[in-house]
Amino acid sequence: MKPFKIRDIEISPPLVLSPMAGVTDVPFRALLKRRGGIGLTVSEFISVEGLTRNNPKSRRQMRFFDYERPFAVQIFGGQPERMRMAAEMAEEVGADILDINCGCPAPKVVKHGGGSGLLRDLPRLETILKEIKKAITIPLTVKIRAGFYDNNRNAVETARLAEQCGVEHIALHGRTKEQGYKGRADWDLVRQIKEAVKVPVSGSGDVVTAADAFARWRETNCDGILIGRGAMANPWIFRQIEDTLAGREPFEPTLEDKRAVLIEYFDLLRADMPEFAAIGRMKQLAGQFTRGLPGGARFRQVIYHSHAVGEILERIGEYFETVSEGRAYLGEGGAEEEEAPVLDSCETATI
Ligand SMILES: Cc1cc2nc3c(=O)[nH]c(=O)nc-3n(C[C@H](O)[C@H](O)[C@H](O)COP(=O)(O)O)c2cc1C
Repeated sequence: MKPFKIRDIEISPPLVLSPMAGVTDVPFRALLKRRGGIGLTVSEFISVEGLTRNNPKSRRQMRFFDYERPFAVQIFGGQPERMRMAAEMAEEVGADILDINCGCPAPKVVKHGGGSGLLRDLPRLETILKEIKKAITIPLTVKIRAGFYDNNRNAVETARLAEQCGVEHIALHGRTKEQGYKGRADWDLVRQIKEAVKVPVSGSGDVVTAADAFARWRETNCDGILIGRGAMANPWIFRQIEDTLAGREPFEPTLEDKRAVLIEYFDLLRADMPEFAAIGRMKQLAGQFTRGLPGGARFRQVIYHSHAVGEILERIGEYFETVSEGRAYLGEGGAEEEEAPVLDSCETATI
């Protein structure tokens, strides 16, 4: 696995923090970037309808900081004219790369022809890519799925078309729109696309350990690896891969590192958004982050039933203290209810 280039932009290490709506905003990207090992960061997907109508939330989603570079803005939509305008806006705010979302399966996105809807309307995709290509000078990239329908996995055809339209990097999440997040991502399609096009190709889906990343890379000869959910569960995963690449022993976070990262994230969130929103986001990460830790399930319930900043900080302190002393964590309060549902798609889209 070695660095690769999207035109003249070096992606080093060849690891991408995969875009996740409702997750990969400024605070989350800061948290992850500080852990190291990320070669490219991407915004959440941003509605072109929102951007071109000056929706403040959409404009906010384009924010990024210099330390994140190289940085890609990802947009979604189905109308060529609005896609072009939004692409121009991304270039104007200084994004290094413009990425088109051709993968989101959410009905409200697909209904308007955007996201994975573009995979069943390749003429529309072609028009959009050509329109955008004429309007911007930064590299244009796409993130696609295996196909729209399970019985028509047209990712290779889509990749070829994208390359012909001047796209300079193709990322594939090897599930179809019909599949949603079920089953396993098909990495053989990454290999097939890599053979079919000359531009760099990256793969996405189910990479949760450094060993997964190396195995997928060896099987497919892909240029880059995207990691999404695996980075929520383990914010050090990029650094661990980078360590291995450099011949170092991979970094192993201690319990104290884990406690500190949760607190750091909470601080970043509160500096960036209203308290209630920060609390919601904190619950989301705490849920992902404590999978596999002793008493983690109980901790998730307790956090889920906490409603104030002080309470959450106290519960985090208690939990890590108990676990580090080797005692069983029983938690306080909070009935034995169902846990909060895990956010696992782009359903949170604002259009
Ligand atoms: C909560 C969530 C939100 C997502 N939002 C986006 C998005 O905005 N744009 C995109 O291209 N993919 C999005 N995805 C897909 C991921 O980028 C990734 O391709 C997929 O989750 C598979 O990779 P993983 O197993 O590493 O998570 C999202 C995934 C999740 C779980």
